[in-house]
Amino acid sequence: MLDLLVHNATLPDGRTGMSIAVQDGRITDVAPGLDAPAHDKLDADGLLLSPHFVDPHFHMDATLSYGLPRVNASGTLLEGIALWGELKPLLKAEALIERALAYCDWAVAKGLLAIRSHVDTSDPSLLAVDALLEVKKQVAPYLDLQLVAFPQDGVLRTPGGVENLTRALDKGVDVMGGIPHFERTMAEGAASVRMLCELAADRGLRVDMHCDESDDPLSRHIETLAFETQRLGLQGRVNGSHCTSMHSMDNYYVSKLLPLIAESGVSVVANPLINITLQGRHDSYPKRRGMTRVPELMAAGVNVAFGHDCVMDPWYGMGSGDMLEVAHMGLHVAQMTSQQGILQCFEAVTVNAAKVFGLANYGLEKGCDASFVLLQARDPVEAIRLRATRLKVYRLGRLVAETAPLQASLKLDGRPAGTAFMR
Ligand code: FE2
Repeated sequence: MLDLLVHNATLPDGRTGMSIAVQDGRITDVAPGLDAPAHDKLDADGLLLSPHFVDPHFHMDATLSYGLPRVNASGTLLEGIALWGELKPLLKAEALIERALAYCDWAVAKGLLAIRSHVDTSDPSLLAVDALLEVKKQVAPYLDLQLVAFPQDGVLRTPGGVENLTRALDKGVDVMGGIPHFERTMAEGAASVRMLCELAADRGLRVDMHCDESDDPLSRHIETLAFETQRLGLQGRVNGSHCTSMHSMDNYYVSKLLPLIAESGVSVVANPLINITLQGRHDSYPKRRGMTRVPELMAAGVNVAFGHDCVMDPWYGMGSGDMLEVAHMGLHVAQMTSQQGILQCFEAVTVNAAKVFGLANYGLEKGCDASFVLLQARDPVEAIRLRATRLKVYRLGRLVAETAPLQASLKLDGRPAGTAFMR
């Protein structure tokens, strides 16, 4: 007897009338019109069943702290970093854990079951590191939380920066971070990339650096990151986050850079909601969008994913853990409005993000984890357009969240009472 049988589902690749059989948390079969005895049966009614959403770039130590101790008045990245510096000495582990757990609840409700979060290692107390390691343990039964050691104030620029970051890794933080564009000079930035990649290679870790989060076209640390990845044999394990300077770079240089990134196997995460609000702030008009060159990177064969980055924190006062909102903004900012472009944006918050994360057993194939979402939409394009309701969220075959279908009741003069669902 199966644990769960889903039938009449549409899959992101366009297959319709599909059944998914689940046993012991794994998908045991995917085929049209399966029939077998099961403890639970779910009629998908032709709606979209997707592998769960993955956020490859987030800051859970800062989330839901909006307004503490004050709001970012200029809205700039640099004021956000300064504001975070004001908040850090006031942080209490208990409150941080409470906020992070609340966000994880939002995430699960939205079908977001894997989050890679950076955690600031600049403070020698490592309070945020200990707090998020505790959160990781507490949410493990329902959400994969991967932590990146992130030296927000610059690993070389901060006294004790290397030691603090190393201690965070010793405590069990999963991934090597970095922020080369925030070091004092371009040369120091490049040196930080080299040193951190060597440390990661020694420890067998993945790497995810905030890389060139700047409008400065000469911020080229992604070049060094690609070079060090190849030199140290880290292909497939390294990610460059943001890479917004690429938006403003000289086109000839980019034509050399893209093949180098593709060759190195470095993936790139853009954060559309944040890039469109934080970049270009020093421009008058015209104002640059600032997001990295997503379609061009994809066309060059680079794995590109979208992250949420921030929700209600010193850098961004919006957000709700909805990766469809992230994809929606991504396709607008990147002008990826063709049918293929929209599907690529859906992949940027699902399969591409899972690759950045290094998630094993991700997908809707036989042998994959039975962790998926039934959406109130017929296909990925409609899912993004409507930021569709997550009707059912399953993790390892177990229902972990459900939301009632969205439907408005209309009471209009001269019309019979009716309902509206926008599709
Ligand atoms: Fe970030």
